[in-house]
Amino acid sequence: MSVEAPIYSENSLPVNIQEHLRTEQRMHPEATGALTSILTDLSRVAKSVSYLVNTAGLCDSYGQTGRVNIQGESVIKLDARANEQFKQILKSNPNVAGYASEEEDTFVPFNKDNRGKYIVWFDPLDGSSNFDTNVSIGSIFSIYQRKSPESRLVEIDDFLQKGEEQVCAGYFLYGTSTMFVYTTGHGVFGFTLDPSVGEFVLPNGYSEIKTPEIGKIYSVNEANINKWDQGVVRYINDLKTRADNPCSARYVGSLVADFHRNLLKGGVYLYPRDSKNPNGKLRLNCELNPLAFIAEQAGGMATDGHNRIMEIEPRELHQRNQVVIGSKNEVELFEKYLS
Ligand code: AHG
Ligand code: MN
Ligand code: MN
Repeated sequence: MSVEAPIYSENSLPVNIQEHLRTEQRMHPEATGALTSILTDLSRVAKSVSYLVNTAGLCDSYGQTGRVNIQGESVIKLDARANEQFKQILKSNPNVAGYASEEEDTFVPFNKDNRGKYIVWFDPLDGSSNFDTNVSIGSIFSIYQRKSPESRLVEIDDFLQKGEEQVCAGYFLYGTSTMFVYTTGHGVFGFTLDPSVGEFVLPNGYSEIKTPEIGKIYSVNEANINKWDQGVVRYINDLKTRADNPCSARYVGSLVADFHRNLLKGGVYLYPRDSKNPNGKLRLNCELNPLAFIAEQAGGMATDGHNRIMEIEPRELHQRNQVVIGSKNEVELFEKYLS
């Protein structure tokens, strides 16, 4: 198969991810290059998982492994394969001392010679239930500096840090194109995979992603309405019926895809607590904190209705929390309905 090169606009030449990361590193003299090398490796993970996603229907990647993870969810074959890609590539990076994954019961220290000062949290495949039907899915990652001394193996407390300690976070979106979106706390950048050369590029030079302050979309699994608290029911009703800027509903059921659309267009995503999931469904460490970091860097907000997501103290690796995330105006409105 031959792949034709895309036609870029004449007055904005694309910047590839390596060039961009080198420029960012030069702009921050304190940077040692360690984070740049981890991000470069994560862009490799993104390409390889993107390939697995795109070819899944051709090579027996659909379906379940037969295993159930610690969270009681069935593990599909691609969850396991994507997890392996993250693990193998990160293991080869001397700056990474260990990782924790949504798909593994506990954190994994790399061997004792690996004295890296960073740890990585990831959700290797987000939106797994959509995978077999060719609907957009993603991966999420989050990077912290370890707290334990570099002379030892990493410990659980390295993986139970508040979101505000993140040094970098991002996601890969396997949609109509594959994207790599990340922040190190200096704005949000979104790269698109150009399959003709196998590189992530910023098609519009150095433009940052900013999210609209007022949203016009709400994303929630409304089939759960009878299990919600009354404040949540009233909030959703307000969003759709208010005279000024009533919202439309959009829900893919893949967090990364729903989040990314709302980030660009303005809107709010929520997964409230309900009578079946008393703490909500989504995972604080590998789903909520990274997306909260991106949302805030883009000018949005993320809370559990009472607390900023990134200030919540994690007590467990696979802790779940209620979340409302997206445009400021709609997140603040949610807080009023809960108070
Ligand atoms: P994962 O595929 O990593 O287990 O995450 C699934 C999550 C998230 O992607 C999505 O927004 C949410 O589950 C959907 O939940 P419902 O099916 O309950 O709406
Ligand atoms: Mn997920
Ligand atoms: Mn997952």
